[in-house]
This record gives sequence, structure tokens and C-alpha cells, in this order.
Amino acid sequence: MASVIDGKVVAADVVAKVKAEADKLIAETGVVPGIAVVIVGHDPASQVYVASKGKKAKECGFNSIEHALPAETSEEELVAVVEKLNADPAIHGILVQLPLPGHIDSGRIIQTIAPEKDVDGFHFINVGKLGTGELDTAFVPCTPAGSMLLIERALGRDLSGLSAVVVGRSNIVGKPMANLLLNANATVTIAHSRTKDLPGLCRSADILVAAVGRPEMIKGDWVKPGATVIDVGINRLPADANGKARLVGDVAYDEAATNAGSITPVPGGVGPMTIALLMANTVISASRAAG
Ligand code: GUN
Repeated sequence: MASVIDGKVVAADVVAKVKAEADKLIAETGVVPGIAVVIVGHDPASQVYVASKGKKAKECGFNSIEHALPAETSEEELVAVVEKLNADPAIHGILVQLPLPGHIDSGRIIQTIAPEKDVDGFHFINVGKLGTGELDTAFVPCTPAGSMLLIERALGRDLSGLSAVVVGRSNIVGKPMANLLLNANATVTIAHSRTKDLPGLCRSADILVAAVGRPEMIKGDWVKPGATVIDVGINRLPADANGKARLVGDVAYDEAATNAGSITPVPGGVGPMTIALLMANTVISASRAAG
């Protein structure tokens, strides 16, 4: 049976380090890390995420402000909010929660965020830095950065010579995940809905990352014996006969755990890492701003 990679434990370690760094920064420079989270509309899942980001920021000793804007907010109004935050020296991290309402061009909003405050790592400058391996000055997207920490913890070795398959090619997870693995010397394949023989490809992976948003799509016999399996999916299944809704990943966990060497559970795997890495990016940004 696979060993379970406990994201809550690793995330708590990251948050403790971030808090210590924030305390030191405040004591030495008086700069208090500041994060602004902007949410437009009332998507329930987004509201839950945004509330937990604010709570974690306070736990780290940051200033946290939230801009909750109505669903009818125009693109120009949102651009103006972001520009104001760009110019505010007390704010070191800006996060605009996605998805945005359909009438707003998300790409334009992301490119409006000052790259040095883009703690999500979605701006072209940060995407380019990750792509060219300039990791010292990039902001790396939080979910893949957190997944990478879990992989490193699980393996406890250099990734050279290992093959990694990333299922999913989103800008938020799949593509940056592939770049991080490549940077760490893994041999990387990105798979997606048009990939031929996906089960066979997955079976070749020493490291298998699932980020497709399809409940339990990756079956147990797609997992190579001993592989490290990172499940980024968070899918809410409708209530069962007992009226209980169930959260599942993109991997059929029980089956996969019989083959994998180590595996992340859902919930309690990658999920807690995303917020922890957002805090880490924010304290990095505040330290850079403090010089
Ligand atoms: N929506 C889902 N994941 C994310 C994320 O990592 N950042 C932002 N801004 N929105 C999201």
C-alpha cells in the first residue's frame, strides 16, 4: 500500500516558516506583508477560497484586505481597482480570484497586475521567468509550487532520471507544473484529452500529476507500481443515498493507493498547499519590497 502524503502537515510547516519570516521582516524593517484579494460576484466555491486565504494571511501576521465587488462590475472598474492596488506601497501581493464573470476579459486583468505583486504567478513576466528557469525572481503559481514540495518530500531525492506525466494542460496548473518538473531534471510529458493511450502513458510515469477536473478519471491500473501520485483535482460529487456530498480527486484513490508508492489524498493533499504557497509568495514579495 502507498504511503499517504499529508498536505496538511507540509502546509503547516510552510506556514510556520512564513510566519517566522514575516515576524523577522516586521521586527527588522517595520514592513508588514500586505495581501489584497479581489473577488467579483458570488461564486460559492470562490467565496470559500477567498475567506480561507484571508484567514491564513492573518494567521501569518499579514495585513489582508478583501475587495468583494458586485457581479456587474465592469472591466474598466476592475482595472481601476487593480491599478490602485499596484500603486499602494502597503500591498505586496494582489490576487484576483478566478473565474471572473464572462463579460470581463480575465487575460487583460491578469496582465494589469504589477508583475512584482503577482503572487499567483499568472502574469506573462512570471510565466516567462518560470519558462526560462529564472526561479530566483519569478513568482511560481501556488498549486504547482505546492505540489512540487509534496513530490520532493515524498521522494527525498533528486528527480534526475525520473519520468513525470502531467495530465492536464491548464495555465494555472498543468503547464507550470511541467516546467517545474523539467527544471528539477525530470523527463516530462504533458497529456490531455487528445492524448493517445492515456492509460499506457500514465503507467510509464514515476511521478504522475493529475490536474484535469474529472472525478476519479485516473484508474488504479494506470499507476505504475511504486509511483508518486499527486492528485490536484477537487471534485464535488452529488449527495449519495445518505445525503452526504463527497469530495473526490481526479484519481480513483482506493485503487491507485494499492499500486502507488505514495499518494496525496483529497481532501488534505494538494489543497492546503495552495494557500500556504500563496502566503510564501507574499512574504517573498514583501521582503523584496523592503530591499
Ligand atoms: N481559481 C482557482 N484557482 C485559483 C488560483 O490559484 N488563483 C486565482 N486567482 N484564482 C483561482
